[in-house]
Parts: sequence; structure tokens; C-alpha cells
Amino acid sequence: MDVYIRLACLKDIPALTRLIPKSARKLQANYYTFQQIEGALGSVFAVDSQLIDDGTYFVAESKSQIIGCGGWSKRKTLYGGDQSKSIAEESFLDPKIEAAKIRAFFVDPAWARRGIGSQIMQQCETAACDAGFQKLEIIATLAGEFLYAKFGYHVIQQFDIPLPNGEMLPVVRMFKNYAVD
Ligand SMILES: CC(C)(COP(=O)(O)OP(=O)(O)OC[C@H]1O[C@@H](n2cnc3c(N)ncnc32)[C@H](O)[C@@H]1OP(=O)(O)O)[C@@H](O)C(=O)NCCC(=O)NCCS
Repeated sequence: MDVYIRLACLKDIPALTRLIPKSARKLQANYYTFQQIEGALGSVFAVDSQLIDDGTYFVAESKSQIIGCGGWSKRKTLYGGDQSKSIAEESFLDPKIEAAKIRAFFVDPAWARRGIGSQIMQQCETAACDAGFQKLEIIATLAGEFLYAKFGYHVIQQFDIPLPNGEMLPVVRMFKNYAVD
């Protein structure tokens, strides 16, 4: 399989902006309604350019096409794109006591279940560990829960994210502690 993973750069944003809705509309269709997916696009499901600036966001490429993306964060923000964050959320986490965040995984539907999400997860976990974090957490969609469960994350909370169109998006908070798990 001719796929390689590299760090994302700001030039990738137009391709990511096309990939995210394509991925969400197809791969989340069994888990969320049309209204929930459309409400989340552009707010919860969107590019967070801070991750790209931080050098903590990856893309998977095949034949120069971006076919997947995902990252991790050393900042407090749990989810969402550039439009949906506060300055307080962008402050740095303390790796000694806080959990790094896994963020914004989206795979092209044509490439689903071919290990792309897993390859990006491996890169994220390695990078977060190298940065000194022992714990990781994710606000996962119901579509993403399976991937993270395979990596040893446990559901610790279920809640709904209010969306700009008045809908609610059910998600799960998942957690992994390297020192224990
Ligand atoms: C979640 C997502 C990133 C997974 O990407 P992927 O490249 O298909 O994942 P992988 O091929 O690496 O899957 C690894 C494992 O995760 C589990 N898994 C992934 N998708 C699954 C699904 N739809 N149903 C059941 N298990 C699934 C399986 O255990 C799979 O291993 P297997 O194929 O050997 O059984 C992709 O489905 C996606 O982009 N979904 C839409 C966007 C989204 O909801 N992202 C999560 C945001 S938190």
C-alpha cells in the first residue's frame, strides 16, 4: 500500500477542508443523523490550524492525495476547529499531571478500514510520549470509538455537544494511562 504519513502544513488546509466533510458524511452516517453531521461540520468537525502550527497534526498521503488526517495536542482544547475555540482553552497542558489530547481524525471513505487511522494513531501516541505525556484523552465520535478502543482507550464519560444548528452531538470521552494500561 503506497501510503505515507507526514506532518501537516498550512498548505494542506484546502485539501483537509474538502476531506473532513467527505469523511464525516459517509463514515458517520450510521451513527448520527444528517442534521447532526451538518451541524457539526464547520464547528466540531473542522480544521484546527493551531495543531498544524504546533507540529502535532499528521496527514496520510497516497500518490500526492491526502487520504487521512489526525493529530494530538499539548493544549487544553478538546475538540473543534478554528471557529469554535476560546483563548483559555489554548493554554498548554502540564505533561506531568495532565493528559495530551487526541484530535480530529478523518479518513477518506475510499480508504476506510485499511489501517490509515491506526497508522496516524501510532504516530500521535509516539509523539505525545516523546513530549513527556503519560496520559491521553479523546472526545470521540461514536464512529471513532472503535478505533480508539482498539488502542486501549476506555470510555469514562458520555455527553452531548450542543451544535450551532440547535442539534446535539452525542460523544464519548475516552482515556488511556500508559503508566497503568
Ligand atoms: C474513525 C476513523 C478515523 C477510523 O479510520 P480507519 O482508517 O478506517 O481505521 P483503521 O482501518 O485503522 O481501523 C482500525 C480498527 O479500528 C476499528 N474500527 C475502525 N472503524 C470501525 C468501524 N466502522 N466499525 C467497527 N470497528 C472499526 C477496527 O477494530 C479496526 O480494525 P480492523 O479493520 O482490523 O477490524 C474513520 O472511520 C473516520 O474517519 N470516521 C469519520 C470521522 C470520525 O468520526 N472520526 C473520529 C473523530 S473522534
